[in-house]
Amino acid sequence: MTLPPPRAGFREPARLRRFLAGAGFHEAGVTERLELSSLFAFRTLRGGRTSATTPTDRLGLLIHLFMDGEPAPEAEARRLLGEEGLGLLQEAGLLLPDPHEPSTLAAAALLYPVGPLLIASDVNEQAPGASPDGGALRPDAVYPALTGAVRGFLRDLPDPTEVSADARVLDLCAGTGVAGLLLASRAGEVVLADLTERCSHFARFNAALNEVGNVRVAQGDLWEAVADERFDVVVAHPPYVPSETDQLIFRDAGIDGERLFRGVVAGAPQHLNPGGLLYVRGTAVDRVDAPVESRLRAMLGEAHGDFDVFVAISDLHSPEEYLSRASGAASEAGVDRLSRARRLREGGVAAFVHGTFLVQRREAPREVATVRRVRAPTAGRRALDWMRRSEVQALRPHAPRELLRRLPRLREGVEMEVRYRMEEGELRNRGCRVGVDTPFRVAVDLPAGASRFLPLFSGRRHTLRVLEEGVKRGMIPPGTPPDQFAGLAQALILAGILEIEGAEPPPPEA
Ligand SMILES: C[S@@+](CC[C@H](N)C(=O)[O-])C[C@H]1O[C@@H](n2cnc3c(N)ncnc32)[C@H](O)[C@@H]1O
Repeated sequence: MTLPPPRAGFREPARLRRFLAGAGFHEAGVTERLELSSLFAFRTLRGGRTSATTPTDRLGLLIHLFMDGEPAPEAEARRLLGEEGLGLLQEAGLLLPDPHEPSTLAAAALLYPVGPLLIASDVNEQAPGASPDGGALRPDAVYPALTGAVRGFLRDLPDPTEVSADARVLDLCAGTGVAGLLLASRAGEVVLADLTERCSHFARFNAALNEVGNVRVAQGDLWEAVADERFDVVVAHPPYVPSETDQLIFRDAGIDGERLFRGVVAGAPQHLNPGGLLYVRGTAVDRVDAPVESRLRAMLGEAHGDFDVFVAISDLHSPEEYLSRASGAASEAGVDRLSRARRLREGGVAAFVHGTFLVQRREAPREVATVRRVRAPTAGRRALDWMRRSEVQALRPHAPRELLRRLPRLREGVEMEVRYRMEEGELRNRGCRVGVDTPFRVAVDLPAGASRFLPLFSGRRHTLRVLEEGVKRGMIPPGTPPDQFAGLAQALILAGILEIEGAEPPPPEA
């Protein structure tokens, strides 16, 4: 049995928010009470949390009811929450008599702070045991916004300050609508689109609770919900767990986990304005015949030449590893997993790529970028912005030439391994591998001589001077065209091995 969802049309959202804030039911209050570094580290009581187990005050009871999903005796709720608080929560449909024990009250939904918002959702296995009715998850359960996956999604959202005041924003596969609601403070209009009626209802409730006015809720299969509309920013966190059956709508995404991902990317040409950005957080696959970044181009179809494509990889797994990690597969016997992995391999899947996928429509005709990088755990949204900006800058026709007059320097932390080989009685330099770990993990193989001329990039010599001096000292072959050398310097700047003042990669982010 399932409790009815909270009421989207409730009367007094501002009073309810004031009541909750007054009780300390906000991000700082809850993290302090539970001694958490972040709310994304929250565990329910039944999920193993040991701190703050007995609700002795208003905040404790709110956490108990709405985050742990535990019922409480009605008299206790009345005493700790007061008539006003209890009335407000009941009027919003957030607290109901427990179907199993009518003298107790249970939450109709989980409710918790996310940044400046309060978000209501259903529960899932990542909040184990928190189902108010103790029942199994419904197929259309509303995915909670406190999971590690949502943390990853929200972390890379475009900064609201970069969303223009008249921008049209779409949160596709919106669930609770948390991402769209966070972006709404700066945008013109935000559409929260999801397949299910239940998600649409929760998205409406969350918009009402937070009094976000410039939001519309649309329901339908992916882009069908917004048939002829165009957007400046589209964010999507679709289901991506490989599964052979469809049990949970928020999770299951076909045999290779890519069914929804492909549909999301394929809609970009029809729905993105010039300059518009599609940001997808999730998993897609490298196939034996094509890495994921080329496949994104194929998914975009004929119009792909209009788009830059960036892939920032958080994790890369073999089919075997990935299936054993994916939550939907967790309960499967190992032998089933191995045979599924074999089928995936036979079908051409080489690896699962989990991360951030960005597709941006160019504003005017120009060359477009296709980039794949493995990010450091400390590389946040600013690192992604830096990558996009520098890659697009580098495509300007005169960019390498301009670089000849700039002063690149080797970045702090760059590592170099030089390879020597014994040849004709002497050890000869056969080249080197130069790498960095932040913001992206990059290793570049360079020819003999590079280990000697790279230190000449000290930030005090123009690229052209480095070339001239390198040739003079026998480190660079005479006759090397300046444009070719500038192209190498450019590639090293984009990799984060060299840097230029004013365009440095950002420092590590939390
Ligand atoms: C992983 S959840 C993410 C929800 C939310 N964006 C978040 O990050 O918390 C995936 C969402 O996609 C929705 N969904 C699944 N299939 C869909 C489809 N064909 N069209 C639109 N939404 C879909 C599910 O209902 C679910 O809300």
